[in-house]
Amino acid sequence: MPRFRIVDSSSHAEIASGRIGTYGIIRNAPCFIVDAVKSGSYGFVDYGYALEGIALWAAGAGLGSCWLGGTFNRSSVSTSMSLAPDEIVPAIMSIGEPAERRTFIDATMRILAGSRNRKPWSELFFDNQFDIPLVDAGPWTRALEAVRIGPSASNKQPWRMVRTASGNKIAFHLFLHEDRANNTAISGIRIQELDIGIAMRHFEAAALSLGLPGKWTPLETVPVDYKEPLQYFSSWITY
Ligand SMILES: Cc1cc2nc3c(=O)[nH]c(=O)nc-3n(C[C@H](O)[C@H](O)[C@H](O)COP(=O)(O)O)c2cc1C
Repeated sequence: MPRFRIVDSSSHAEIASGRIGTYGIIRNAPCFIVDAVKSGSYGFVDYGYALEGIALWAAGAGLGSCWLGGTFNRSSVSTSMSLAPDEIVPAIMSIGEPAERRTFIDATMRILAGSRNRKPWSELFFDNQFDIPLVDAGPWTRALEAVRIGPSASNKQPWRMVRTASGNKIAFHLFLHEDRANNTAISGIRIQELDIGIAMRHFEAAALSLGLPGKWTPLETVPVDYKEPLQYFSSWITY
């Protein structure tokens, strides 16, 4: 289970002293969520799922948030979290009122990451098999759209989903289209697995708010053919 800590910028030495170190990307954020997780199987996915839940809550309260996986000083944050030997800080999140004007550094980072651009449906969502784009998702359209517009590390949008149907049971199988260089750029952290957790959170939040019940379930055998760089993670099973 990930554990989270709220770091209040006004009262914490880490920020007051500049030790959380966001290199000018985030300014005057009143609060950071700083967190640690054991780096075992599904640890990064859980972490992405849990921290994105906080981001969605913040958005509902009219606040902005920004994931920081690369541009913060990980070693000083890790020291201040008093980590257990098997714990790691994969990313942190700033929360605050969104600035009206972007700083030069922020604008430059966003251009480099291709922020705001999102891949079209045809590259992300598939019908039964990976070579058939999903054209009509019916009532699930908004849940898939919530995945598509989500944030991802370096805006790689590595989520892929395949819908299958058996009788009246629909399933959506979630895969990572791994960019190996991106996923292993930070030693010990599989940053794209955070993106998978984010996608799961967005899909679930949208589906449940639309009254479409279901549950994420990792299947032993997924009924879809796939090959590297795709990796299977979990399936949304309707009931
Ligand atoms: C796991 C993760 C790590 C991220 N790390 C950083 C980061 O270190 N620095 C940064 O400026 N943005 C970071 N971002 C933000 C992404 O660059 C941003 O979500 C993406 O470019 C899409 O931007 P948009 O949602 O504003 O369109 C991260 C996002 C995620 C999901």
